[in-house]
Amino acid sequence: MRTESDIKQNSLINVSQQIPSVSADLQAGCDMSNLRSMFFVVGFLVYLISQGAAEPCFLAAKGSPTFPANFSFGVATAAYQIEGGWNADGKGPSIWDDFTHKNPDKIRDKSSGDVAADSYHRFDQDLQALKELKVDHYRFSIAWSRIYPTGDISSKNQKGIDYYNNVIDKLIANRIEPVVTMFHYDLPSEVQKIGGFANSLLVNQFVVYAIELFENYGDRVKTWITFNEPYDYCQNGYGDASYPPQVYAPGVADYLCIDNTLKAHAATYHSYKSRFAKTQGGRLGITLDSRFFFSRTNDEDIVDRGMQYGLGILAHPIFSKSGGYPDIMIMDIGANSQKEGRIRSRLPSFKNKWRDIVRGSADFLGLNYYSSRYIKRASKPNGVSPSWERDMDCDTSIDSNWLRAKSDWLYCVPEGLEGILKFIRDEYDNVEVMITENGWSDDGELIDDNRIRYLRSHLQAVLNAINDGCKISAYTHWSLIDNFEWLKGYTEKFGLYAVNMSSPNRERTAKKSAGYYKQIIESRKIPSIF
Ligand SMILES: *[C@@H]1O[C@H](CO)[C@@H](O)[C@H](O)[C@H]1NC(C)=O
Ligand SMILES: *[C@@H]1O[C@H](CO)[C@@H](O)[C@H](O)[C@H]1NC(C)=O
Repeated sequence: MRTESDIKQNSLINVSQQIPSVSADLQAGCDMSNLRSMFFVVGFLVYLISQGAAEPCFLAAKGSPTFPANFSFGVATAAYQIEGGWNADGKGPSIWDDFTHKNPDKIRDKSSGDVAADSYHRFDQDLQALKELKVDHYRFSIAWSRIYPTGDISSKNQKGIDYYNNVIDKLIANRIEPVVTMFHYDLPSEVQKIGGFANSLLVNQFVVYAIELFENYGDRVKTWITFNEPYDYCQNGYGDASYPPQVYAPGVADYLCIDNTLKAHAATYHSYKSRFAKTQGGRLGITLDSRFFFSRTNDEDIVDRGMQYGLGILAHPIFSKSGGYPDIMIMDIGANSQKEGRIRSRLPSFKNKWRDIVRGSADFLGLNYYSSRYIKRASKPNGVSPSWERDMDCDTSIDSNWLRAKSDWLYCVPEGLEGILKFIRDEYDNVEVMITENGWSDDGELIDDNRIRYLRSHLQAVLNAINDGCKISAYTHWSLIDNFEWLKGYTEKFGLYAVNMSSPNRERTAKKSAGYYKQIIESRKIPSIF
């Protein structure tokens, strides 16, 4: 996806070509005119560096420098990662409550989300930060087990419903659009007891919960996201068992989880369209996360393979013209299943009308993008058999020039965001994309220049993609505040605002990046200097 000229603009070649002329000037002696030209050349070099010609985590501008007037800037959080109040006011336990309580050793710092940033009691501090940033929208998630403590309608909890009423009202009073995620990893424990996402009963149970949300909040919430990152909670929760509910059934239950997620999403979409959309006038989508892939040998097939196994397994059934799972996955997994002696594929097939129900069931694609990889065909079998990795049959690698965050998986690759946006434009008929997450981790320092580099280069990628005809309506930075980073606890910080986790008041403090982002939101342009 990178063109020859992009690569040149970003490479060291430009700067190293300038360096001989500096040395030549230095060698020419020090009379005044030479000094002047030396200052000129040094000044030019400083200019080049300030333009980032040689910087990692940088992307050159292409086309208009200004975001469209109707482009929406925001920040994101998720209930379990910030709220705390894990059993407050009748909330039921979720699988993350159970997991952190029973397995503290699985969390890097043995912590949990029991208190986190205490947003359940301190939303006003979050609101203050949102107002300072001047964001257009705030993406947060609703904890299913606050609304229905057992996941079931019979357990309806008014205090949980009231909490989000207050959040939504205060956002709207401050002209910040609420963007609501209905599910962000925190499945009610009781729903898991009957199989969770591995049981198709989940489909109806989720729709009942979603209808509760439309009835209570749909007068004010106009942007709905059903599920956040199914790829991750399915593969980690029902495949390799690294996340709760720790179901270890790789290559089987992870695909089943994807299948039930797609059906629950589509059924929710159609409920909304038939019962609420006319009066409430909102829109509904789903948030998918994906890396982009590059090939060192310009092998387009292998790039496509990587994209289908990551983004395609969820996006193809919803956003492609034909619907259903990507052909390549149907073929591979069918063939592998046969070799394993099965009479049916481990990848479920959409039976009856499900293919048509799922196809087209979203008003926009929510995209979480963090990083990219190089990809090639696997040199030896990957992972266990059966598994998603074994089916995918690819090796991935990084480029040693990529800047790495605190998180070991997170490298700054802005070209990948531009690449994935163009892939979506071409593959899914230029569906509207809301970028629902994108962010950088560190130790939590207040002078967070690398977060600024990441923000700057990724917003440049978004702008370049818009200038290239991609329909992108929003950018949402992860995250508003430092929070509980799943298995990494509080050891990897993603916030624009720091949170003092050792203080009972959990004070929020703006980092340097908060000021930089605010400048972008106000000017609709990306400042090159910070
Ligand atoms: C923003 O405005 C442009 C130009 O009028 C329009 O083409 C585009 O559809 C709008 N985008 C959204 C998300 O409303
Ligand atoms: C965090 O809060 C504690 C307790 O109030 C305080 O002693 C400490 O100085 C604070 N840390 C920072 C970085 O503000």
